[in-house]
Amino acid sequence: MPRLLPALFASLVLLATGANGFRIEEASLATIQQGFGNGSLTSVQLVRFYLDRIRGLNPLLHAVIEVNPDALRHAARADAERRRSSGADGLLHGVPVLLKDNIGTRDALNTTAGSLALLGSVPPRDAGVVSRLRRAGAVVLGKANMEEWANFRSLPGTDGWSARGGQARNPYVLTASPCGSSTGSSIAAAASMAAVTLGTETDGSILCPASLNSVVGIKPTVGLTSRAGVVPISPRQDTIGPICRTVTDAVHVLDAIVGYDALDEAATVAASKYIPHGGYAQFLKKGGLQGKRIGVPNGFFNYANGTVQHTVYQQHFYRMWLQGATVIENLDIENLSVILDSLNNGEQIALVAEFKSSLNSYLSDLSNSPVRSLAQVIDFNNAHPVEEKLKEIGQLILLVSENTTGIGAMEKAAISGLNKLSADGLEKLMKEHELDAVVTPDSALAPVLAIGGMPAITVPAGYSSSGVPFGLSFGGLRGYEPRLIEMAYAFEQITNVRKTPRSCHSSAKVEM
Ligand SMILES: *[C@@H]1O[C@H](CO)[C@@H](O)[C@H](O)[C@H]1NC(C)=O
Ligand SMILES: *[C@@H]1O[C@H](CO)[C@@H](O)[C@H](O)[C@H]1NC(C)=O
Ligand SMILES: *[C@@H]1O[C@H](CO)[C@@H](O)[C@H](O)[C@H]1NC(C)=O
Ligand SMILES: *[C@@H]1O[C@H](CO)[C@@H](O)[C@H](O)[C@H]1NC(C)=O
Ligand SMILES: *[C@@H]1O[C@H](CO)[C@@H](O)[C@H](O)[C@H]1NC(C)=O
Repeated sequence: MPRLLPALFASLVLLATGANGFRIEEASLATIQQGFGNGSLTSVQLVRFYLDRIRGLNPLLHAVIEVNPDALRHAARADAERRRSSGADGLLHGVPVLLKDNIGTRDALNTTAGSLALLGSVPPRDAGVVSRLRRAGAVVLGKANMEEWANFRSLPGTDGWSARGGQARNPYVLTASPCGSSTGSSIAAAASMAAVTLGTETDGSILCPASLNSVVGIKPTVGLTSRAGVVPISPRQDTIGPICRTVTDAVHVLDAIVGYDALDEAATVAASKYIPHGGYAQFLKKGGLQGKRIGVPNGFFNYANGTVQHTVYQQHFYRMWLQGATVIENLDIENLSVILDSLNNGEQIALVAEFKSSLNSYLSDLSNSPVRSLAQVIDFNNAHPVEEKLKEIGQLILLVSENTTGIGAMEKAAISGLNKLSADGLEKLMKEHELDAVVTPDSALAPVLAIGGMPAITVPAGYSSSGVPFGLSFGGLRGYEPRLIEMAYAFEQITNVRKTPRSCHSSAKVEM
């Protein structure tokens, strides 16, 4: 593993604490607000801290593509607002957030899904989730690196790479995969380049990188969060969710971003029935595992005896049982092998057609853009083969998508097949056994959840013998966020697994 240069982190040492000895680095949203409230921290100081940290760590980790040149100005405005009013502004007020680069902003930042083809494109407005964050007083700090086109460019995939952001690195083990496609959001949260980041998931893109970078990721029920203004793949499967260091912080962000959006009308209306009165934070309960029925489906925990994962996951099940949960092993999800075979079960047939029509509509809605169609994106890559690594990565999925002609008979059949696989699979299993959740490692359950628009939360669960993080995901039926939050929070509180990444230790040690 590459040895870290002390010099790279020297600049961070002095920044680990802010004014008046306030320790910013691992501060939660609640602590940040206390700091704002008692005068030991300002939003401007917080933005400066993160900007310096990005400057120091990004040459190594490549987690961030752009920082917002207006972030300090917006932070100063938040500080002024706080001085004028008597507090009670909400937990996100004055807090910097990093957005995955496919989440559109109408500001100085570019929104490119990591691709050079979209550089200079101008969204007509902020994405729905960004409007909500700004209304809550959050400061947009910048755009996080991601697997280009949310890994929907070619089959080999890009493992944390984009033409705009370069190769992102896992801060725990630099040579290990950081996973994706919400790569930079996860790394940035892990390495405290921001306390709050957003990611997006179509099939695993929050759960996988959050797990592998030892942070908490929430993949909300499809439609709970608006997809308007986000570079799309599929209106059936896309969802936007928070990636943070703790369940508590992620849940507060979820509270801020859920809800109706006229620009994502059908999905946000359909999911609005799931949003609880009083929000999600009420489910952050220490006894949240008590009385829960948790399924352990076959086919996921395939770790050999003696491996760290085998031992640690068994210990976790035992501890959940001690907390009053019923852990039910040996459950079979019907047709699991078919569901996991996305190339042959109809998922790809549906996704490629959905991608073409929704991307073309996203591109035509832009106020200004160098590319206006998927065909032009393909042409762009052909014209920039070196910068876009065309030889190494290719663009087969883009080409296959371009060949589609809308949602025809074949696509409709594929979609109804997927709905049936979901209904007869996890949905039936959960109802039959009256489960509150099923648990699986990392993003292993993602394909099962993806085709049903179902939610999950991943929580840090351990570190392999070589130090690579792994997570435990709690997945459930559409609208199960309240109970998933109860279980994930209680699990996090009793296990307390997360530690700061190795590549940040030289700054983490310093106390003043
Ligand atoms: C202000 O709150 C922060 C966060 O809880 C704490 O660390 C700090 O000591 C407090 N400072 C004062 C002056 O009360
Ligand atoms: C957005 O991209 C343009 C190039 O088209 C660049 O000049 C500008 O600096 C970028 N914005 C930010 C905030 O980096
Ligand atoms: C693991 O250990 C258990 C109990 O000792 C044993 O029953 C099982 O067969 C072992 N599995 C493997 C794959 O070795
Ligand atoms: C799912 O499993 C059932 C029963 O095991 C089988 O009859 C059916 O053909 C399978 N469905 C698919 C799509 O493979
Ligand atoms: C697209 O369709 C054309 C014409 O049917 C075919 O020749 C080509 O192989 C297809 N490309 C891909 C990537 O499927």
